[in-house]
Amino acid sequence: MSRVFHPVKTKFRHATSAARRISAVLREAKLSNRPSATRIVARSVPCLQGRARAPGDKSVSHRALMVGALALGETTVQGLLQGEDVLCTAAALRALGAEVTREPERGLWRIRGFGVGGAREPGNVLELGNSGTSARLLAGILASHPFTSFMSGDASLRSRPMKRVTDPLSRMGARFEGREGGRLPLAIVGTDEMVPIEYRLPVASAQVKSAILLAGLNTAGETTVIEPAATRDHTERLLRHFGAEIHVAPAEGGGKRITVVGWPELKARAIVVPGDPSSAAFAVVAAAIRPGSDVTIEHVCINPLRAGLYQTLREMGADIVFENQREVGGEPVADLHVRGGGLTGVEVPPERAPSMIDEYPILAVAAACAEGTTRMLGLGELRAKESDRLSSVAAGLQANGVSHEMGADSLTVRGSGSPPAGGGLVTTHLDHRIAMAFLVLGLAAREPVAIDDGSAIDTSFPGFADLMNRLGARIGPISGSLSGAP
Ligand code: S3P
Repeated sequence: MSRVFHPVKTKFRHATSAARRISAVLREAKLSNRPSATRIVARSVPCLQGRARAPGDKSVSHRALMVGALALGETTVQGLLQGEDVLCTAAALRALGAEVTREPERGLWRIRGFGVGGAREPGNVLELGNSGTSARLLAGILASHPFTSFMSGDASLRSRPMKRVTDPLSRMGARFEGREGGRLPLAIVGTDEMVPIEYRLPVASAQVKSAILLAGLNTAGETTVIEPAATRDHTERLLRHFGAEIHVAPAEGGGKRITVVGWPELKARAIVVPGDPSSAAFAVVAAAIRPGSDVTIEHVCINPLRAGLYQTLREMGADIVFENQREVGGEPVADLHVRGGGLTGVEVPPERAPSMIDEYPILAVAAACAEGTTRMLGLGELRAKESDRLSSVAAGLQANGVSHEMGADSLTVRGSGSPPAGGGLVTTHLDHRIAMAFLVLGLAAREPVAIDDGSAIDTSFPGFADLMNRLGARIGPISGSLSGAP
C-alpha cells in the first residue's frame, strides 16, 4: 500500500494549490501568445444528450490490416480506426511489401497482401510511435521471415516490456537484440524455419497470444498457445474468417488452448470493423456520472472478452441498455443507450481484468463519482501499459482530491456520491487513456480538470473532444480564462 489520501484534512489546501497550478499554465499560454495546443481542460456540465458513433475498434483495425497483408488478393476494410497507432501498422506493412491504400470518399481501405511468408525486408527502421499492439503483433510476423528488421517508437513504447513476446518467438527460432529487458529499439533476426511450440502464457495477454499465432502461420505444423485466462479473441476470429485452421479448446484451470495450423493459404476478404468499446467507454461513463444524461453510442463491439467495464458499471447501478444487437464483421455489436443516475461502489474481481484491461482509468473516474468504495483487484498488468497506468491513475485522483489507495496490483477509490473536487493538472505520460479518463472527470468535478498533454489522444480516438462536445461536454485547449468557453 503506497498512497493514502485524506480528503478532509487536505481538501482546501489541495484545491487552492491545484487551482494555482492551472492558473500558472493559463498564464504561460497567454504570455507566450500561443495557446498551448496539447494542454486541454474539461469543465463541469449538467448532463450529456444525443447520439454518436464510436470510432473503429483499435484491436480489430490492427489485425484487419495485418491479416489482410498476410492474405493473397485484395482485402477491403470498412470502418478502420484512423488513429495514429493503426496508421503506424499500415506504414509498417507497406514497408514489408503490402499495398495499403485508402479511399477517403468511401472511408474504405484496400490491402493487397504479400501472403504468408511473403513479406520483404524493410528498407528502414519500422517506426511504431506509441503503439504496443503494432510492436508485439508485428514481432510475430517479422520473426517468421528470413531477414533482419528493426523497430522503434516513442518514449512510452521504448519503455515497454518486449521479453514477453521475444521469449516465445526465440523458442521458435528467431533472434532478438534489444535494450535491457528486450526493450525497443529492437533488432529482429527472423527465420522461415521456425519450429512449432506449445507455449503457456505467463500473463494473460492478447498481444502475446496474437504474436505467437501470427508467427505460427509461417511455421510447419501446429503452434499452440495456452492462456491462463481468456483474452480478446479478435485474431482467432479474423484468421478463421480468412481461411486459417484454428482450434480452440478449454484449458485446464480456466482459460483456453488455441492452436493454429501452419502454412494456410489466407484468402482476401471484406471486413467491417465494429466500434471500439474501450473508446465508447469515455462517453458512456460521462453520461452515467451526470444525472439527467441520455446518450446512445452506436455500433459498439460487445464481444464478452471486451465488455467487462459494462458489466461492472451495471453492477454499480448504471442504466445501460444494449439496443439493436447484431453481428458486424464476425463480432457482436450493439448501440449502447445510457441514462445518467447515481452509482454505488463495488468490488471488481481480478478474473475480470482481461475483459476490461484498458478500462480501469475510466472506471476509477466512475468510482470517484460513485457513493461508497470501489475495490479493483488484479491490476498488475496496468503497470506495463502506455504508462505505469496504476500510478498514473492514482496520481490523477490525488491531484483532483479523490480519496484512494493504491496497492501493488490493486486500487481502492472512495467516492462520496457527490462531484469530486477537481482542479488538478494531470500528467498523462503519453498515455491516451489517462488523458481521456481525466477529461471525463472534469465534466463532473466542481473545479475544471486539466491534462498536461493531449497529444496521445489521437493514437486511439481522433476527434475525441469534438464527439464529446457534440454530446454537451466542455472540453478544449487551454487558451483563456478557466471560466470561459468551452
Ligand atoms: C490489446 C491487448 C491488450 C490491451 C491493448 C490492446 C490487443 O494488451 O491492453 O490496448 O489489441 O491485443 P495485452 O494483451 O498486453 O494485455
